[in-house]
Amino acid sequence: MNRWREHFAGVDLPVPVAGGGSVVGINFDNAASTPPLKRVREAVNSFSDLYSSVHRGTGYKSRFSTEAYEHAREVVARFLGVNEKDQVVIFVKGTTDALNRIAAEQLRQDGRKVLVTEMEHHADLLPWRHRSGHVMVGLTPDGHIDLDAIEHTLREFDGAIGLVALCGASNITGFVSPVHEVAELAHRHGARVSVDAAQLAPHHRIDVLPPDDPGHLDFVSFSGHKMYAPYGAGVLVGPRDFFVGLPEVMGGGAIDMVTWEDTYWTDLPDREEAGSPNVVGSVALSVAIDTLLGLGFEAMLEDELALGRRMLEGLGKIRGVGVLGGTDSGRPTRLALASFVVEGLDHGLVAAALSHEWGIAVRHGCFCAHPYMIHLLHMSKDEVGVLVDEVTTGGRKAMPGAVRASIAPYNTEEEVDRFLEAVNRIARGEFKAGYSQTADGEYEPKGGWARIEIAI
Ligand SMILES: Cc1ncc(COP(=O)(O)O)c(C=O)c1O
Repeated sequence: MNRWREHFAGVDLPVPVAGGGSVVGINFDNAASTPPLKRVREAVNSFSDLYSSVHRGTGYKSRFSTEAYEHAREVVARFLGVNEKDQVVIFVKGTTDALNRIAAEQLRQDGRKVLVTEMEHHADLLPWRHRSGHVMVGLTPDGHIDLDAIEHTLREFDGAIGLVALCGASNITGFVSPVHEVAELAHRHGARVSVDAAQLAPHHRIDVLPPDDPGHLDFVSFSGHKMYAPYGAGVLVGPRDFFVGLPEVMGGGAIDMVTWEDTYWTDLPDREEAGSPNVVGSVALSVAIDTLLGLGFEAMLEDELALGRRMLEGLGKIRGVGVLGGTDSGRPTRLALASFVVEGLDHGLVAAALSHEWGIAVRHGCFCAHPYMIHLLHMSKDEVGVLVDEVTTGGRKAMPGAVRASIAPYNTEEEVDRFLEAVNRIARGEFKAGYSQTADGEYEPKGGWARIEIAI
């Protein structure tokens, strides 16, 4: 039995399957978005009667909401060990929003380049590439962060790199990055470090450490929807002295005074939170954090990792299945997830069959991290060139990829075993339905997806 499941909403719902009827769905798409904790759902419900605009309203609801919003900030600060004298917690839309804001400021405040690793999600690559300019550092052959390569590049650029950006954990292999070691290297070479913690924060405690610790983290970003809270709220933590120029987003709430010609910006964090903030989402995120810590965050991770090992070992035994990054669970440096390919079968077909025939939700494709996928699939420059030509002229069917199954604390051994049985059957070519590929490369069951009517 699973001791956490009862705390999560929507995890025992029937989903339709091929041939009519339904089964209780299995959600192994947690690395994309997680279902909410029940405590979060209750908080959102009860806060719906009470929320109102924060900071400026004098009405009771406004004052109540302001308190709840500022309390949420304190919860986040405590979760990450942030000392609010040195660093600021800014509520944003999510990790993508946070990283774009840092990149915009990096360009204006610092102007030096950003070192990124080949492992990054596009959210932690494109903002640097197209705003501040980046230097991309390769990985070890087996797809891990390469500390020597990072150090070598920092030395080579001799002070011309102002920031090192890396993920706390990969959304494809689940490899956890040595963030504090990278931070030490960055600081030694006069750069700051930014951690994209979208995948790490839902599973691991992150401690930003005091600013005088060589391994401290300057920036940390993550999203509520990947840690059991709703969409639309996320966190950006950064050094207060970084946000000194014009804010990236300008508008109401960010100023002390505006005259016909002049703008007098207010203090942080309001200066970086122009417009009406997502009060409900931010409070929900803080309730998720409090609930996870209250239930036993470390114990949840232990259980998740045990399921992850079961999944990796099981996949490793299925003929024709290859797991990206290998099947070594690498405890404790790998999250409980597995991205895999099945010999002779398109990743989209495997994902469609898992859903349509088995009621198992996974994700497939390149997971918004193309350079890492190219690395893991050992594609040559020439092969990538051919692919670019094909994809950019409408041939999306050519896109390579994998299937990702990602685990959360509410998942069970029975679910992992059912999933392994499904992958085993699919790998042997046992399908219960026929499929056709659409122009965008997706697979659809002939006769359409099974449906059940649900009112929302
Ligand atoms: C490693 C990583 N970084 C960034 C993101 C982007 O997060 P969001 O879509 O919440 O902005 C994701 C989302 O999948 C991710 O996995």
